[in-house]
Amino acid sequence: MTLWGGRFEEGPAEVLWRFTVDDSDRRLLVDDVTGSLAHAAMLGDVGLLSEDEVVDIVTGLRAVLEEATGGEFEWSDGDEDVHSAVERRLYELIGETAGKLHTGRSRNDQVCLDLRLYLRRAAEERAGQISDLAKVLVAVAEEVGDTVVASYTHVQQAQPVPLAHHLLAYAWMLQRDRDRFLDVNPRIDVSPLGAGASAGGRLPLDPEQTAAVLGFASAFTNSMDAVASRDFVAEYAFCCSQTMVTLSRLSEELVLWASDEFGWVTFGDAFTTGSSAMPHKKNPDIAELVRGKTATVIGDLTALLTLQKGLPLTYNRDLQEDKRAVFHADDTLSLALAALSGMVESADFHPPPPSGMVTALDLAELLVERGVPFRRAHQAIGGLVAGLAAEGRTLLDASAGELYAAQPQLVPEDLDELTAEASVAARVTPGGGSMESVRRQLSELRRRLA
Ligand code: ARG
Repeated sequence: MTLWGGRFEEGPAEVLWRFTVDDSDRRLLVDDVTGSLAHAAMLGDVGLLSEDEVVDIVTGLRAVLEEATGGEFEWSDGDEDVHSAVERRLYELIGETAGKLHTGRSRNDQVCLDLRLYLRRAAEERAGQISDLAKVLVAVAEEVGDTVVASYTHVQQAQPVPLAHHLLAYAWMLQRDRDRFLDVNPRIDVSPLGAGASAGGRLPLDPEQTAAVLGFASAFTNSMDAVASRDFVAEYAFCCSQTMVTLSRLSEELVLWASDEFGWVTFGDAFTTGSSAMPHKKNPDIAELVRGKTATVIGDLTALLTLQKGLPLTYNRDLQEDKRAVFHADDTLSLALAALSGMVESADFHPPPPSGMVTALDLAELLVERGVPFRRAHQAIGGLVAGLAAEGRTLLDASAGELYAAQPQLVPEDLDELTAEASVAARVTPGGGSMESVRRQLSELRRRLA
């Protein structure tokens, strides 16, 4: 059944149907019925439906809702979309009165309402899942204690840091990704119901009432904006994309760290996969696929932006494509969060000590404390490092004489400052790579993620 037969003498061509019908909106079923319940009650309150008609429609819709939530709703091949399916079912249940439900409404405001109801809920769920992964990172950071690794710049060992400091960097990124899903709410939380096809109508609807009943912060203030705008969908997809990008960076590191060359971490058997050919392999496929799927989610965001850029106001059927894209982005993120949480939780960290050169900056800073200009100190330690490297030695192998020869302000006790642990212990920058900083971060993150 289509909702639009009146002016047509021929039925739809089979190829039109195949091309224009997209059943990805079926997951809006419960939201569609919820919106209709509010609409029907409002129609009664403003006198467009009699009390009996409201009772009939609401009773019918409640039955549809029960079928929908119980997974018993039966779709028909003739349903053009979720809205048509609900009206068709309502008609089967209560007869002709069903034809009054669509009073003062268009699928243009209806589909947008459904999507807003859906994404409002999804945003909260995703925020919760992101918090959960951040909490896993906090727990792992606590577990690894004061283990020291090198920080990297240019994928070259840079300075010693607590491994926890590195892991918590991701917890902070995720905390912002979580907040972004909460911040998008004011743009989603506006009801478009009552905008109708594009301009509202002559019937005395009460959009504020339906907005309030459905728990929206407000109703639309421009009907054309209400039915034509999808910036909230693109913004949601951006939230998904940026979170996927965070997960992808973390994943890239997990892949590197699990390599024989890094040897930092081993993941649980249940969260790795084997090779059909090479019996020794244990592959970090979850992390690789998070990286790969991030590309497809960025594709969804690109699609949603491109979808809008050339569209004249108001509704155009192009907009139907918004759902497939945003659902794919959201589903992919949700599963990626769950899979990566499991993988990180299973991690056993055992990083080797960093190279003996990572305290070069500490030596230069010791000289600065003794009045040597930083540029000169840099030059002197650079020379010392070059000489040691040429002999296959590191700062850990240097002698007091070699330190003195490099720069006479260096004293034999400075040899004790050359271990990675000493460097971390001497670190004083607030928010820097020290255990005191890690402890502060842990308590702040625990507070924010609670
Ligand atoms: N399936 C459509 C969509 O997702 C619903 C709105 C259809 N409106 C219309 N006038 N054909 O956008």
